[in-house]
Amino acid sequence: MDKMIFATETSSDLAKKVAKKLNSKIGKVKFDHFPDGELYVRVLDDVKGKNVYLFATLTPPTHNIMQFVLLANALKHAHAHVTGVITYTGYARQDRVSHPGEPISIEVLSKLLEMSVDRLILVDPHDHRALRFFKKAKAIRPFDLLASVVKNHKDVTLVGPDVPSFERAKAVGKLLKNPHVMFFFKHRKTGKEVKMVSDLKKIKTKNAFILDDMISTGGTIIKAANILKKAGAENIYVMATHGVFAGNALERLNKSPVTKIFVTDTIKQTKRIGKLKVVSIADIIAKELR
Ligand code: R5P
Repeated sequence: MDKMIFATETSSDLAKKVAKKLNSKIGKVKFDHFPDGELYVRVLDDVKGKNVYLFATLTPPTHNIMQFVLLANALKHAHAHVTGVITYTGYARQDRVSHPGEPISIEVLSKLLEMSVDRLILVDPHDHRALRFFKKAKAIRPFDLLASVVKNHKDVTLVGPDVPSFERAKAVGKLLKNPHVMFFFKHRKTGKEVKMVSDLKKIKTKNAFILDDMISTGGTIIKAANILKKAGAENIYVMATHGVFAGNALERLNKSPVTKIFVTDTIKQTKRIGKLKVVSIADIIAKELR
């Protein structure tokens, strides 16, 4: 079956890179608004019987989610076989009722995303717990990419800044045969504030490499970096798959002891600071779609 790649407006850069690697055509879409602000999309290519990959990064605003849902529906009605490629799964951290009266937002989102697609590929979703709400989704974890970035740095301890990211640090440590892996206990007080406890006195290696799935406010990374600096780390590197960088996160990270931050291009970076380096995840996604 012929392959074609479509994308929501904020995902087109990464989609183009993947399309190039697969030698596939990028589908044409008309994006517009009705006078009252409602979204309008229209698929302009003939997709009948085609294998279509629809890329979307679900960062706020909700606009991105809506564009994906509408495009998936348009493609389905045009008789394509649709695979959604969600490069960043927003709302995935809201995967349980933490306080009475709250929704399980990812449960709601899973229904919306799966409504018109045949299957979904989620690129490094926050936690495996989110996956239980999906029926057609598969997660891909870019551990090889993380390892290839870490490999360029010598004498590092791999650090998970909380318990779930310890698994990530261990997986990368295993790929690199690096036995220096550690984690911190983190308690999230609010969306903006985290508490981190550690009895780390002295780090065993010269450098530290913090690995996480995402950076939002930067609070987690800054807390971990402060502890590592105090424990004698000369350089503190960070790699996260998704650079959300909410509010003034980049400015705060710039002032923190972090030496360098690597993120992938699952989310388009519009602001840049000298410490930030974007590494493309296009190869990993292309391999999955081949
Ligand atoms: C949390 O469980 C995630 O793995 C990240 O550590 C967290 O979402 C990062 O958020 P922030 O940058 O706001 O601390």
